[in-house]
Amino acid sequence: MSDSPSGKISNVLNETRIFPPSPSFSQQSSIGSMAQYQAIYDASIQDVEGFWAKEAREHLHWFKPFETTLEWNEPFAKWFVGGQTNVSYNCLDVHVNNGLGDKVAIYWEGEPGDQRTVTYSDLLRDVSLFANGLKKLGVQKGDRISIYMPMVPELAVAMLACARVGAIHSVIFGGFSAEAIADRNNDAQARFLITADGGYRRGKPLSLKQTADEALAKSPSIEKCIVLSRVGGGTSMQEGRDVWWHDLIDGVSENCPAEPMDSEDSLFILYTSGSTGKPKGIRHTTAGYNLYAKRTFQWVFDHKPDDIFWCTADCGWITGHSYIVYGPMSAGATQVMYEGAPNWPQENRFWELIERYKVTILYTAPTAIRSFIKWGDHHVDKHDLSSLRLLGSVGEGINPEAWMWYYEKIGGGRCPIVDTWWQTETGGIMMSPLPGAIACKPGSCTRPLPGIIPRILQHDPASGDLVDVGTNSGGMLCIEKPWPGMLRGIWGDDERYKQQYWSMVPHMYLTGDNARQDEDGYYWIMGRIDDVINVSGHRLSTIEVESALVSHPAVAEAAAVGRPDEIKGQAIAVFVTLKSHEPTDEMREILKKHVRKEIGALAVPDDVRFTSALPKTRSGKIMRRLLRDIAAGKEGTGDTSTLEDFTVLVRLRNDDES
Ligand code: WT7
Repeated sequence: MSDSPSGKISNVLNETRIFPPSPSFSQQSSIGSMAQYQAIYDASIQDVEGFWAKEAREHLHWFKPFETTLEWNEPFAKWFVGGQTNVSYNCLDVHVNNGLGDKVAIYWEGEPGDQRTVTYSDLLRDVSLFANGLKKLGVQKGDRISIYMPMVPELAVAMLACARVGAIHSVIFGGFSAEAIADRNNDAQARFLITADGGYRRGKPLSLKQTADEALAKSPSIEKCIVLSRVGGGTSMQEGRDVWWHDLIDGVSENCPAEPMDSEDSLFILYTSGSTGKPKGIRHTTAGYNLYAKRTFQWVFDHKPDDIFWCTADCGWITGHSYIVYGPMSAGATQVMYEGAPNWPQENRFWELIERYKVTILYTAPTAIRSFIKWGDHHVDKHDLSSLRLLGSVGEGINPEAWMWYYEKIGGGRCPIVDTWWQTETGGIMMSPLPGAIACKPGSCTRPLPGIIPRILQHDPASGDLVDVGTNSGGMLCIEKPWPGMLRGIWGDDERYKQQYWSMVPHMYLTGDNARQDEDGYYWIMGRIDDVINVSGHRLSTIEVESALVSHPAVAEAAAVGRPDEIKGQAIAVFVTLKSHEPTDEMREILKKHVRKEIGALAVPDDVRFTSALPKTRSGKIMRRLLRDIAAGKEGTGDTSTLEDFTVLVRLRNDDES
């Protein structure tokens, strides 16, 4: 392995097992054979624009039809130009108008065990009420609204209400700290924040409002804060700024027509980590995103009207945006939504939910699967999981052992597994088995979806030119043509967008992942090319963690790296040089707490190692790959010829032993 993004990557995985869908699964699938997939795929890439134009006409409601399918002014895409639609209309009104108002949209369960059933009519009413509440508060088209809430139906209601009135939401995961919330509020110049008094996690109410208050003290653009009462018991409300959700909707009309939005009006911003310290606001727009979330949901999950779908993600991540709210709801799906932890009150909570609601499709993350394996099969054995017909995985590569356990123990050997590869930036799934058509190989995301053209490129060692790599060699995964779900940019930073995604490989979208393609044309993701680590399926930038550490007065310098972790995929190890303080256990705890405060619990380092110096190149760049080896407990065998001070390595290893 090498630090350079163009370095050669060796392929160490050699997985040869193959699992075709059963004939009965294929028979009931809308795309039920490899030949059918191939025909759809081939046609889609022969005329990419024609393909998406037809999809858009058939699968979205248009207040005004579009005139131009794609305006491509590289790297800025505009899809379905001239058209007007509304995402909340596509998710709600369409179904109610089709007589499906009584269909269950959400079976919700709170962590303490409270249950709610929400139909599409209920949801349309709740969204309309809240949308009218937003208008009453002065929300206007194009305003940014931050949402910091637990996993309750009102979170989906808030998102859909923003979409209904044309406000741009920025959902901030409930585990983020006040600092992180304030950064996001300020970057987006949000005018409003929607939060709750709390939410339940492992038996305890988390006081979200208290964290929100701390953030608001540093968020001058926020004028009003709407507070949902979830846990009760009172919270301090600031006169003139804070308003209860229930007071806001008191007396407003249940009728709120959806605002016709231009195809390219922004729908949401979602912040994600990049390879610099500043979080990136990934911007998605209306029609293209809506179409892509809906169709990929239908294709990949082979969705049928009577399916009970459960995506275990939080709406604070892109998975929750695309496969809890916008994809499934556009498709009129019935789904399960759960507020809390998978091991509360016991480690069988997921299996209990699947049995109770007769879930047919489960979509979860490898990090969760690894926890289930660790917790033991007896938690699974207590439950009847025979309702399941399809399983999904997302967030990081699934290791073949976890894949086999998921397939056999949860799927009873009868459910295909869709290993879905995509990113916050792609808006929806890009590569995945279509479960009735494409045989699975454990650890491979298999094939591209219709309209998506992946390429794997590498610098030719002799000429330095970028070339497509051959079978089974790793290289940079790129996407050749624009697709409707793609990000439209980084909020307020076109330069960074160009630089990050469209400069290293000319005329292609650079995903930031390495991949290889095997002899059957299957794709295998091989991890990131940049300094981004994947902890429990969520991207964290090493630089963000480093900046947080260096902001502590005792720290002179810090480097963060990922090291393999059985449960989380990667854990964070940090190497810290202190100013004049003692490297004590107490200092370790202080620094962990500091990172928790600056970023949030998900970024807290698992390993804090003190060192007198960091290994650097002559140009001063920290040599992370050496640190990665040390953190993983490996004897470094890599090239150290560019190391400026050779003794640092020896010292590091010694420090490590002390
Ligand atoms: C990065 C995107 C996609 C929603 C959740 C994470 C990694 C994601 C897979 C997969 C191997 C995967 C990639 C990607 N990743 N899915 N099936 N196999 N790696 O979204 O935070 O934007 O992270 O997650 O490295 O680039 P995200």
